[in-house]
Amino acid sequence: MYKPVKTEVIPDVFWVGVNDWSIRTFHGLDTDEGSSYNSYLIMDEKPTLIDTVKCPFAQEHIERIQSVIELSKIEYLVMNHSEPDHSGAITKIYALMPQATIITNMKCKENLELLYPELKTLNPKWLVVDNKSQLNIGTRTLSFIPVPMIHWPCNMFTYCKADSTLYSNDGFGQHLATTERWADQLPLERVMHIMNVYNANILAHIPVLIKNALVQASKLDIKYILTAHGVGWRGETIALLLEEYSRLANQSYKKKVAIIFDSMYGSTAKAAIAMSEGVKSTGAMVDVVDLKASSLTAVALYMFDSACFAFGSPAINSTMMPLVESAINHCRGLKLLAGKTGAIFGAYGWAGAPTINDMTEALKKCNANIDEVKLQWKLQVNDEILVKSYEMGVKLGMKALEIGK
Ligand code: FEO
Repeated sequence: MYKPVKTEVIPDVFWVGVNDWSIRTFHGLDTDEGSSYNSYLIMDEKPTLIDTVKCPFAQEHIERIQSVIELSKIEYLVMNHSEPDHSGAITKIYALMPQATIITNMKCKENLELLYPELKTLNPKWLVVDNKSQLNIGTRTLSFIPVPMIHWPCNMFTYCKADSTLYSNDGFGQHLATTERWADQLPLERVMHIMNVYNANILAHIPVLIKNALVQASKLDIKYILTAHGVGWRGETIALLLEEYSRLANQSYKKKVAIIFDSMYGSTAKAAIAMSEGVKSTGAMVDVVDLKASSLTAVALYMFDSACFAFGSPAINSTMMPLVESAINHCRGLKLLAGKTGAIFGAYGWAGAPTINDMTEALKKCNANIDEVKLQWKLQVNDEILVKSYEMGVKLGMKALEIGK
């Protein structure tokens, strides 16, 4: 009978997760390279399962666990997070291991009970832990580190001192389906890019909490970080990872301007291009995002590490284009514009020029600074507008050079 191949990631610790090769959107986030829902089995005197997987993958998860051990022999199930991509299979899994105790924090337990009322019929044994708890599983002892909002209030890290291993769940993860289990087994630039898509769209809005998580992690001897998505980290890649997270925590922006626009007949687009030339002339970098050809995921990716920004929209029915409104709103939710200096630009037609007001209001809600740089014109751009667009780019580029690192 076919059995999945055992995947031992460190001695006596097995990856028993699943790859989701097909997923292309994850609650609105583009996942062009799929994802994985990682779960780990620590084979000690008291076998311990760390996290489960998304519900549709429960059977594959069970088979992967069975390639190492019968579920009836597992003594603990540690749940680091309650979101269904890691907990969806819990009822099916627990039904096969009712002898096990579920180890988690109070917030996570409350969420799991709300998400899976059917779990109650299995009368599960719970052990609620906090940052002072220690769980002996044989030759190893596990401890727990609350890391609220990485990614939900319930998130925690589990740490195993004997293996110098941090089970980080969403922290340090990437949406990536792969048969490799470590970042150093893939081109690192590719892994970092995928991780930045994840960070920009999931974690960029909580720099203080990321900093707190990094402080907690810095107190530990860590040789291995086993994530719940994508690949884990070991060796020299850990320092690079922490450097990238530190940049995120410190909102350390690049000397870069993100120009985000929509256009009807190309007038606003021409101004965007002229503006990008102006930015470039200063030596700063520039990302140009045409919303007709890009997703909100890309907007967040290009915005999160930019020191300055510009939003361009022609007027439509007395306001801005819907894609622009949506992009600004997406950035607002992720707090990607707070404190940043930006510009507004765009063409108008019969409706006059109310777009600037609406965009100003929308950007004020993002706590962005757009007092000085606004540019609007009727219908087609002319040389004068293109020169002004270029100059606007120069102004933003200079600012980005001043702020960026
Ligand atoms: Fe991967 Fe917040 O779950």
